[in-house]
Amino acid sequence: MVNVKLLNNYQDLLNPIHNFLLCKTPNKWIEQASDPQKLPLLLTDHLHCELKAAQSAGLLLRRYVVDDETSQQILQWLEPYETRVYRGHLLSSDDVNINANNKKNQQVPRLQIKKGEVWQHELLSRMVLLMKEELHHFDQVFSIIETNQIELQPTTAARYAAGMLRHIRGSEKGGLVDKLIIGGIIEARSCERFAALVPHLPESIARFYVSLLRSEARHFEDYLTLAQMVAGEDIEVRTQEFLQIERELIESPDKVLRFHSGPVM
Ligand SMILES: [Fe+2]
Ligand SMILES: [Fe+2]
Repeated sequence: MVNVKLLNNYQDLLNPIHNFLLCKTPNKWIEQASDPQKLPLLLTDHLHCELKAAQSAGLLLRRYVVDDETSQQILQWLEPYETRVYRGHLLSSDDVNINANNKKNQQVPRLQIKKGEVWQHELLSRMVLLMKEELHHFDQVFSIIETNQIELQPTTAARYAAGMLRHIRGSEKGGLVDKLIIGGIIEARSCERFAALVPHLPESIARFYVSLLRSEARHFEDYLTLAQMVAGEDIEVRTQEFLQIERELIESPDKVLRFHSGPVM
C-alpha cells in the first residue's frame, strides 16, 4: 500500500506516457520481474540500461553535432562508467574511484558544434543534460546494488532496442529522426515500467524508481521534440509505425527476462 501511495502524485506525469504507448506492460511480465529472486537480474539489466541511455545520447552528439575534439571528450566522459560495467565485469566501488567519476560527471566537456543548425544547438543542450542524468542514475543503481549486497549476473542485451533500430531509414535526416523517435519510445516505456513495478518492489527500491519518473518523462518529451524539430514535418505516421513495432516487442513472448523484454513463456 505504501508503494501505491508513492505513485499517487505522479498521475499527471504518467497520463501522457500511457496515452502515447499503445499498450501497458503485461501483468505476466510484472509478475515475473517482481519475483524477489529476479531482483539481481533486474537491477543488473537496469544498470546496463542507464549506461546505454548515456551512450546513445553520446553517439547522437558525436555523429550529428560536435567536432572531433569534443567527440573524444565525450568518449572520455563515458569511459569510467564503461570500465565499471564491461572490463572488470562490474567492479565494486572500492576498485574504482567513484568520486573521481562524479567529478568528471560535473565537468561536462567544452562542447564545440560542427555546423550550427538550430536543431543542433537544441540537440546539444538536451542530450548533454540527458547524459548527465543517465550517468547519475547509473551511480544510484550501482549504489543500491552495493548497499543491498546484490550479486550481479552476466546478462545479454534484450531484443527490444535492436528490434526497433533495425527499421531505421538509411537517409541521413530520416535515420536521425527515426533514432530520436525510438529514443522517445524507450524513455516512455522505461517510465511506464518503473511505475508498473513500484507496487511490487521492496520499499527502498520502489522509492528510487518513483524518483526516476520525472526525469524519464522529460527525456521522452525531449526526444520527440527533437525528432519533430529535425524532421520539419509531421512525424505522427512514422511515430505510430515504431509504436506498433514496440507493442509487438512488449506483448509477444520473449526468450529472456529483461527490463525491456516481453513476458517469458
Ligand atoms: Fe535513466
Ligand atoms: Fe532517461
